[in-house]
Amino acid sequence: MASFRILTLLFVFFNLVLADCECGYSIITPSDDKRYVFTDILESDFVHLDITDTDKAKGYGGFGWAPQEFNMSSVVARGPYGEAFTPQNVISNNIADEQVFSGLGPRGGDAGLKLVVGSEIKKGMVPCADVSTTDVHYYHGTFRAGIKVTDVPGTCSAFFWYMNDTQEIDIEFLSAEFNKSNNTFPVNLVLQSEESKNNGFDASKTGDFKKIHLPFDPTTDFHEYRIDFLPDRVLFYADAQLLTEMKGTGVPSTPGNLQVSHWSNGNMGWSQGPPKTDATTVVSYVKAYFNSSSEARQKDYTLRCKDPSAPMAVCTIPDRNTTYFFGNVANMTPNQTTYHENNGRRARRWQSLPFAAAIATSTWVVGL
Ligand SMILES: *[C@@H]1O[C@H](CO)[C@@H](O)[C@H](O)[C@H]1NC(C)=O
Ligand SMILES: *[C@@H]1O[C@H](CO)[C@@H](O)[C@H](O)[C@H]1NC(C)=O
Ligand SMILES: *[C@@H]1O[C@H](CO)[C@@H](O)[C@H](O)[C@H]1NC(C)=O
Ligand SMILES: *[C@@H]1O[C@H](CO)[C@@H](O)[C@H](O)[C@H]1NC(C)=O
Ligand SMILES: *[C@@H]1O[C@H](CO)[C@@H](O)[C@H](O)[C@H]1NC(C)=O
Ligand SMILES: *[C@@H]1O[C@H](CO)[C@@H](O)[C@H](O)[C@H]1NC(C)=O
Ligand SMILES: *[C@@H]1O[C@H](CO)[C@@H](O)[C@H](O)[C@H]1NC(C)=O
Repeated sequence: MASFRILTLLFVFFNLVLADCECGYSIITPSDDKRYVFTDILESDFVHLDITDTDKAKGYGGFGWAPQEFNMSSVVARGPYGEAFTPQNVISNNIADEQVFSGLGPRGGDAGLKLVVGSEIKKGMVPCADVSTTDVHYYHGTFRAGIKVTDVPGTCSAFFWYMNDTQEIDIEFLSAEFNKSNNTFPVNLVLQSEESKNNGFDASKTGDFKKIHLPFDPTTDFHEYRIDFLPDRVLFYADAQLLTEMKGTGVPSTPGNLQVSHWSNGNMGWSQGPPKTDATTVVSYVKAYFNSSSEARQKDYTLRCKDPSAPMAVCTIPDRNTTYFFGNVANMTPNQTTYHENNGRRARRWQSLPFAAAIATSTWVVGL
């Protein structure tokens, strides 16, 4: 027992000294083996984190996210119906056991953040759901979401990076396009740009639109969908497999925020619907590793990162590990709590925390 304790302390010490990630988190692009480093992190584990609990969140956007409340008229929504985004359609369905990352939640169906599109039209609008990061300083980065898409036809489930209607990166699932009997499951990958605006926001008339057939049914399980927004291109992935890469003038040039939404407006050319029964898309997590455009955060980075070439100064982001969060490992998210104390980082106790941390250190943490 005593030697176990010493070993444990050694591991803790090792990690305090070395496992810092103080200079950021890195990826290597699959197409050309280039390394990119991002300085900031926001990991949101929606299986355990309740962003709708305003007490715990200490108010609007307390955990970096906020359910949105706004109406879009049918004219603005470009469909026969308007869209009413309401916080009531954003439901946190949390599992209490912090070691368990999947299964049924107490509010029915899969645990995670439920985004509901209602089947009952209210005042000409379809009830819809959207959650957005309250920070709008997300510049280049790698953005990942665990999502199980609804199988009710007639909605659009979207994971996207947004600045405005001509600076936008979208992953969109149209449930009406799915066909289980012939195994057809397309996902639409889009850059909204000046060019798509000039085509009446129909990106399919530009080069920055791809409909890709997924090799799995996105409605039966959670899968990881990912956007890498890089200075000269955007990469899209599903379960760590590169789907496509887009370059050129459609690549955004400003910071923005992250959103996950679920909506319908009856437009036969896109969402179709509205759905005949309430439709639910569930988000298990969003993990964002990014460069912030905030001057304060850039200054923090300069103070924090003494030597990017030091061993362990930059941590490698694991590929599609749905249960791995840097924030759950001791000392790997220094200076990253950007809203209030103990944010997305719950006071978590891994059963064997020091060992988990040590394994993470040896496997994923590499120097420059
Ligand atoms: C992010 O910011 C860091 C620090 O300024 C910089 O070294 C790095 O190259 C930036 N990453 C990208 C992808 O621009
Ligand atoms: C949206 O429209 C409904 C119905 O007209 C109205 O009750 C609600 O207050 C509106 N919400 C917002 C945020 O304007
Ligand atoms: C979006 O933002 C960019 C950069 O600020 C700007 O040039 C463009 O006109 C904006 N587009 C719209 C539709 O507002
Ligand atoms: C499969 O179903 C889709 C959607 O219903 C349809 O567009 C497509 O033509 C079908 N493909 C085949 C090979 O039947
Ligand atoms: C699904 O695919 C099957 C086989 O190709 C086809 O017969 C059926 O009409 C399709 N369903 C829809 C809703 O398009
Ligand atoms: C994912 O992360 C967890 C938690 O750190 C770890 O136990 C597990 O081995 C990792 N899985 C893979 C496939 O790397
Ligand atoms: C990061 O560290 C700097 C310097 O200690 C501090 O001023 C700043 O508030 C910290 N920021 C966060 C988000 O922890």
